[in-house]
Amino acid sequence: MKAAFTATPFAEKTVGVTVSHLSRQYGRNVVLHDVNLEIRPGEIFCIMGPSGSGKSVLLKQIAGLESPTSGEVKIGGFIAADPETRARVRLALVFQAGALFNSLSVYDNLALYPREHQLGSEAEIRTRVERALAILSLGGAGRKFPSELSGGMKKRVAIARALVMEPQLLLYDEPTSELDPVMSATLTEIIATLREQTAVTSVVVTHDRDLAFSIADRMAFLMEGRIRGIGRPGDFKTPAEPVIANFLNPVIDLKNPRFKQLEHPHE
Ligand SMILES: Nc1ncnc2c1ncn2[C@@H]1O[C@H](COP(=O)(O)OP(=O)(O)OP(=O)(O)O)[C@@H](O)[C@H]1O
Ligand SMILES: [Mg+2]
Repeated sequence: MKAAFTATPFAEKTVGVTVSHLSRQYGRNVVLHDVNLEIRPGEIFCIMGPSGSGKSVLLKQIAGLESPTSGEVKIGGFIAADPETRARVRLALVFQAGALFNSLSVYDNLALYPREHQLGSEAEIRTRVERALAILSLGGAGRKFPSELSGGMKKRVAIARALVMEPQLLLYDEPTSELDPVMSATLTEIIATLREQTAVTSVVVTHDRDLAFSIADRMAFLMEGRIRGIGRPGDFKTPAEPVIANFLNPVIDLKNPRFKQLEHPHE
C-alpha cells in the first residue's frame, strides 16, 4: 500500500520501540549484550555513551538495517528487521555522516524517496519538499549541491530529507557532531520543535550532554554494549553509577593523563 500524502504531515499515530534481550555480535566481537529498552510513542529518547560502545549498531537494529544475533526489536509492534515492516511503519534515519548524494541537488536529494515510492504527483512532491526545506530554514538551498554546503547545512538537509518521508519514527545518529555551539543549539531546538509539531517518536544517539539534558524525556547510557542506566534527565544530574559520572563529568588530570595510564595498564 502506498503511504498517503497528508496535508498535515505526520498526523497519523506515532509508534513505540521495544528492544528485548537484544544481542549482536560480529564474528567473535560481542557489541551489544542483552539490551532491553521500551521507548514510548511520541517520546524523545536519547542514547548516550562513549565512542565504540555500540550506539550506532543499536540504532541500525532499531531501523531494521541489521538483524539481531539473538533477542528482538519491534517498532510499532512489528519486527524491525522484517522487510514488510518498512511498508507498515514509516521510519527515517538521519545518518551520522549525513549520507547525501553528492551528484544530486538538495532538492533532488529530498525528492528522491517520494519519487521512487510514487508518493504523489511532481507538484505534490514539490509541496512536500518545500515544506521540509522551510521547516529547516533552507528555503534558498534547493538548487545547491552538497559540496556547496557547510557541515551544519548538510546536517539540516539530512534532517529535511528524513522529514519528507513523514516519519512516525525518527532516528538521529549524532545530529550535533562537528557543529559549532550555536548550530548545535539550533539543531537541538529543531529536534524538539519537530517532535512538538508532529509527535514523531525521536531516538537520538549522541555524545552531546547539552542536547540530551535539554530535550530528552528519558535517556539511556550504553557502555561497552550494556545499558547501565535509564531514566529522566533529572535522575542523572548527580549520577550514582561511577561509569556514568565519569562519562558525563570526566576529570582532566594533566599530571596523570589517561593515555599514559593506557600505555602501562598493569602498573
Ligand atoms: N559492520 C560491522 N562489522 C564489524 N564490526 C562492527 C560493525 N559495525 C560496528 N562494529 C563494531 O561495533 C563496535 C561499536 O560500534 P558503533 O559504531 O556502534 O560505536 P558507537 O557507539 O556508535 O561509536 P561512535 O560514538 O564513535 O560513533 C565497534 O567496535 C565497531 O568496530
Ligand atoms: Mg556511532
